[in-house]
Formats: sequence, structure tokens, C-alpha cells
Amino acid sequence: MVDSSWLGLEKKVIIVTGGASGIGKHIARTLTEAGAQVIVGDLHVETGEQEENGIYHVQLDVTKKDSVEHLVKHVVNKFGTIDGLVNNAGINLPRLLVDFRGEKPEYELDEKTFDLMVSVNQKGVFLMTQAVVREFLKKGSGVVVNISSEAGMEGSNGQSVYSATKGAVNGFTRSWAKELGSHHIRVVAVAPGINEKTGLTTDAYNEALAYTRNITVDELGTDYSKAIPLGRPGRLDDIGNLVTYLLSDRAAYITGTTVNITGGKSRG
Ligand SMILES: NC(=O)c1ccc[n+]([C@@H]2O[C@H](COP(=O)([O-])OP(=O)(O)OC[C@H]3O[C@@H](n4cnc5c(N)ncnc54)[C@H](O)[C@@H]3O)[C@@H](O)[C@H]2O)c1
Repeated sequence: MVDSSWLGLEKKVIIVTGGASGIGKHIARTLTEAGAQVIVGDLHVETGEQEENGIYHVQLDVTKKDSVEHLVKHVVNKFGTIDGLVNNAGINLPRLLVDFRGEKPEYELDEKTFDLMVSVNQKGVFLMTQAVVREFLKKGSGVVVNISSEAGMEGSNGQSVYSATKGAVNGFTRSWAKELGSHHIRVVAVAPGINEKTGLTTDAYNEALAYTRNITVDELGTDYSKAIPLGRPGRLDDIGNLVTYLLSDRAAYITGTTVNITGGKSRG
């Protein structure tokens, strides 16, 4: 195991939303290895005393204010404080603005899909950050790390709403960093590109994305050397390591910015 003591995260209380799967799960694991007390809030976990590798789970729907406030109260009652928040919960449903080929109307953007994506990826980040920052303000410190996406920086074919919600996350990051800097609260975002498979990149996701790009699922991108200068997809550990660093005091002068972690790829 890597020696993470230089990060000084031992016993820090950090909430990771969407930490039951994929990137969030790796972030939670990396933080735990660095000695932090991690609380995973996710739709797909059971609340209670069950603990796994010291990670405490609380059932959470980031789109519901009651659920968010319940999580924050629960964490403060049980662990006494909150030092960090990772807004990682997110969904991605590829859709075309207009199904111009007319073959699969189910992959044309509709209000239900729009509302769902905005609700999880954008409103969820707002609700979580507001509730946690109220706690940060009581003690005059804290770090928020938002999981954005390269799509939110560059735009992305077939992912306009996803891209817009991640662009909003970047805007939140810059604005809240300005609002909260004088209270010693940092707000940073991380923008991954193409990564190892997660719960988000399902067969259904690949099928929808391929249709929106008028290519086959097989053509979706296996020759990473063409798209990614470093020639490989991102490892979940790459993202876990970056987020862990940003949560630590070693990153004390970084706020109000989105850090790309894409192996040099810059077009979505
Ligand atoms: N996978 C990628 O290649 C990639 C690239 C760039 C950015 N991201 C971002 O990384 C984050 C994690 O994605 P992932 O690929 O690990 O996905 P994932 O599907 O594996 O994990 C997402 C988690 O969020 C949870 N979740 C969904 N809706 C929720 C809600 N309303 N309340 C609470 N929890 C909820 C899910 O239960 C799941 O455990 C997302 O914000 C995503 O947009 C992923």
C-alpha cells in the first residue's frame, strides 16, 4: 500500500456521494487507505450500522432535500464533524437534440430525461454542498470536490445535457470558491475523460451513445492512442489519487478551478 501519511487525512470525516460504485467507490477506498473516515451516501446502499472496510454507508437521494439533510445530520451526530465532501453521484443518458435519422426516437432528448439529469447532476450538487457548507461554516474550514467531466469543458456529441450539467458544476465550483474563500473553504472540481468501465458505462449507455454518434458500439473507441495522448483510458485509481490530494491540506492553495484528468485528451 502507498504511504499516504504526507496527506494528513487521518481521521478526517469525508462524505462521498455515489460511492457505492465506479469512480466514487475508488475515491472512498483511496481516502480510507489514507486514514480518512469515509461516509458513502448512495441510492443503492442500506443505512445502518453495517460497515465495510471502515466505510460507513447512508442511503441518500441527492435530488431530495430531506434525504440530503438527513445524511448531514446523521454524519454530524455519529462522527461529530464533516471535513470534506465529494459530489460524485451522477448519471449520463446519451440523447440527440433531434433524432434526425428518425430510427430511434427513444434516443431523442425529452423533458423527463432532461429533468432527471439536471436533478441528479446539478441540483444534487447544490443541495449537498449547501447542507455540508452550513457545517463547514460553523468551524471555519472544509473542502468540496465536485466530479465534473471533460464533456463539461469541451461539449460532447450525444451528451448535450450531461455536458451542460457538468458545465454548471464548473460554474458552481468557480462561484462558490469566490463566495467561501474568506471562510477558508475550498471548492475544486475534477474532470475525467475516458476511463475504465464503471456502473455508468453500461451496454445500454454504449448503445445509446453509439446511436447518437451514428457508429456501431464496436467503433465507440477501443483505439485509445488516437484520442488520448497518453494512450490509455483513465484508471479509477488515477481519479481517486487526485481527489484525495485535493481534499488534503497539501492542496491548500487550490480552489475555484476544474482539474482535467484525461491523459491529455481534450475533445469529447
Ligand atoms: N465513468 C466515466 O468515464 C466518467 C467520466 C467523467 C465523469 N464521470 C462522472 O463521475 C461520477 C461517477 O460516475 P461513475 O462512472 O462512477 O458512475 P456509476 O454509475 O458507477 O456510479 C454512480 C453512483 O451514483 C449513484 N447515484 C445515482 N443517482 C443518485 C442519487 N440521486 N442519489 C445518490 N446517489 C445516486 C449510483 O447509485 C451509483 O452508485 C459521475 O458524476 C460521472 O458523471 C464519469
